[in-house]
Amino acid sequence: MTQMELPDIGLFEAIYSARSIRRLKPDPVPKELITRILDAAIRAPSGGNAQSWAFVVVRDRELRRQLGVIYRKASDIAEAVYAARGRPPHLTERQYARFMAAGRHLWDHMGEAPVLLLPCSHPPILPPREALPPDIAASWEEEAAYAERIRGASIYPAVQNIILACRGLGLGTVITTNHIRCENEVKALLGIPEDVFTWALMPVGWPIDKFGPLTRRPLTEVAHADRWGTAWSDGRQSRERGVSGWHYNEPGIVVRSA
Ligand SMILES: Cc1cc2nc3c(=O)[nH]c(=O)nc-3n(C[C@H](O)[C@H](O)[C@H](O)COP(=O)(O)O)c2cc1C
Repeated sequence: MTQMELPDIGLFEAIYSARSIRRLKPDPVPKELITRILDAAIRAPSGGNAQSWAFVVVRDRELRRQLGVIYRKASDIAEAVYAARGRPPHLTERQYARFMAAGRHLWDHMGEAPVLLLPCSHPPILPPREALPPDIAASWEEEAAYAERIRGASIYPAVQNIILACRGLGLGTVITTNHIRCENEVKALLGIPEDVFTWALMPVGWPIDKFGPLTRRPLTEVAHADRWGTAWSDGRQSRERGVSGWHYNEPGIVVRSA
């Protein structure tokens, strides 16, 4: 397959195989594909349909290099945090070692990805206290806290659309947030207004790493039936995959286990 011949994959195959891709070729990504990804991003839901998102697409070599330097600096903090936290119990030694090696690679090579995408958003617009009925105006601070609490929920669906659109186009990406530790430097570099938040820094490019399959903690551990504490079960849980009977069957299709 040449890079411009797009793979034709199904939705569930994309979901089950859209692995974090941290090793990317430096080859350029055609502008029309970036537009396609952005157009998928803005199909996402947002609170009140506010669509207060903005996306900064960085292709300039020098800006990418400088973003890479900032990401490297922020990653020093992440490295210390990971070292102190250790391996999460649901990951095997091998899985954890692979994850850390891939993460470390990106700490050093973020700026070499041909495209760096920053999903951003403007602050939520709240009506002035006086415009609200007195009983709700009295709890204006709580309303403001609610708006702040759900703020990320109006951009991360767009981020997931970006991940899936990249997967559909055969491009690799990963959501990263390390840069937020040094966000002011990122905003100064790119001229992003003070009141705009950056929510992720996503390298996009042709993958060196392979897609999927994705393994996760089993549904029986994380899904509850009706009330907290009653494990969800349809009687078909796959212990190996952690997915209720469904798995990604390389090289191609999502199948239901017998
Ligand atoms: C909120 C959030 C922040 C993340 N930040 C980073 C990051 O800074 N650097 C990185 O390499 N991966 C980052 N990731 C990617 C996770 O490490 C990844 O989703 C997880 O290891 C599962 O990987 P997989 O989907 O390939 O199995 C982040 C993911 C999320 C959801």
